[in-house]
Amino acid sequence: MASCREDDDTVDQVMPPDKKYTPTPYALELPPHFNYINSPIIPADNPLTVEGVALGKKLFFERMLSRDNNISCASCHAPSEAFNDQGMVRSLGVGGTLSIRNAMPLFNLAWGSVTSRRFNWHGSTTTLEQQAFGPVRDPLEMQESWVNVASKLQGTMDYPRLFEKAFGTNIIDSNLVVKAIAQFERTLISGDSKFDRYFLETQEGINIPGDNSLTPAESRGFDIFMAEGSGDCFHCHGTPFQILWTTNEFVNNGLDANPDSGLAWITKNALDVGRFKTPSLRNLAFTAPYMHDGRFATLDEVVEFYNSGVNVNSPNIDGRQKPRNLTVQQKADLIAFLNTLNDSSFVTNPAFRP
Ligand code: HEC
Ligand code: HEC
Repeated sequence: MASCREDDDTVDQVMPPDKKYTPTPYALELPPHFNYINSPIIPADNPLTVEGVALGKKLFFERMLSRDNNISCASCHAPSEAFNDQGMVRSLGVGGTLSIRNAMPLFNLAWGSVTSRRFNWHGSTTTLEQQAFGPVRDPLEMQESWVNVASKLQGTMDYPRLFEKAFGTNIIDSNLVVKAIAQFERTLISGDSKFDRYFLETQEGINIPGDNSLTPAESRGFDIFMAEGSGDCFHCHGTPFQILWTTNEFVNNGLDANPDSGLAWITKNALDVGRFKTPSLRNLAFTAPYMHDGRFATLDEVVEFYNSGVNVNSPNIDGRQKPRNLTVQQKADLIAFLNTLNDSSFVTNPAFRP
């Protein structure tokens, strides 16, 4: 026995080539027009690897991350709904508890302005790794301890081997779990909506099969979106050259006279009261209801809010927020344009399914 163990030790010290930790670098495939924005932000201590992304995907769909082994990240962030829980005003956690906010869709998370790079509606975390710690121990979401998660995963046949491949160790701990999940999240790229194809053809001269021209209504809606004296949406939600269709800034768009604390919940700064993360306008067909509390069920309601419902007395309201006085036709055109930002290839991408 003793000599046998010694032999094993010797073998361990001189690792055979196939047991060495050699992860494969993962190259993000970016749509061509993403060169108009900054490069994806990948932390130096968590580079993307094929093994890490694959493990992260498995963990994203893993129900063992929750107390009753029934809820995964994907329960509230479903791939077919742009990683959102369409139709839910607030999300359902373990045992049917309701989370405090409307779930956020997940895509293009590797980008964001350097100054306002924060996650969650009120900006409570600054990296995806840090963000992923939250839902597991949230008493309204997965209700589990990280110690339990690590030990459940450690006890399985396959996870220790997959962690070994991704990170060079088969000892599972929470830091590695969140690293793998963040790697997977950074691969969720949405850039193939009708408007993207139209932009690539007209701006970049790239020929894409099919008719990618905008209808008259969509094109009028785009002009309304971009015009300061009209819809004036672009200041916060971006332009064709800000491919994300959000500036990612934290602002108060004037929903309430007495708003929820928003970013001030984190910064404790009175000037941040009512400021929330500006969401991307991509994929709205898959992410209703809208706003941090899911108060609007339809885009008609959202547009009517911007048209006539902005509460100009809201503290810290953004200076560009004002009633728009759009006609019925203009409101319909604006919605037609918003719907050109839906990316059906993103919600059906097999790479994002378990
Ligand atoms: C019970 C439902 C639920 C579960 C389970 C859940 N989330 Fe979420 N997620 C939410 C809600 C609600 C928000 C918005 C939270 C807030 O602002 O307070 C959110 C926000 C996020 C964001 C922020 C996106 C952005 O643009 O800022 C990320 C990233 C995220 N979740 C990833 C995950 C991951 C990873 C898991 C699994 C470890 C997970 N979520 C599990 C409901 C859920
Ligand atoms: C001053 C900045 C600002 C302007 C201008 C602005 N928005 Fe927003 N928008 C926001 C913020 C911030 C939110 C999230 C607010 C919240 O939930 O508290 C938001 C939310 C939304 C949502 C909900 C998205 C979701 O996933 O829940 C839609 C749709 C939307 N805006 C469309 C528009 C349109 C259309 C216009 C122009 C008529 C516009 N916005 C103008 C800042 C702005």
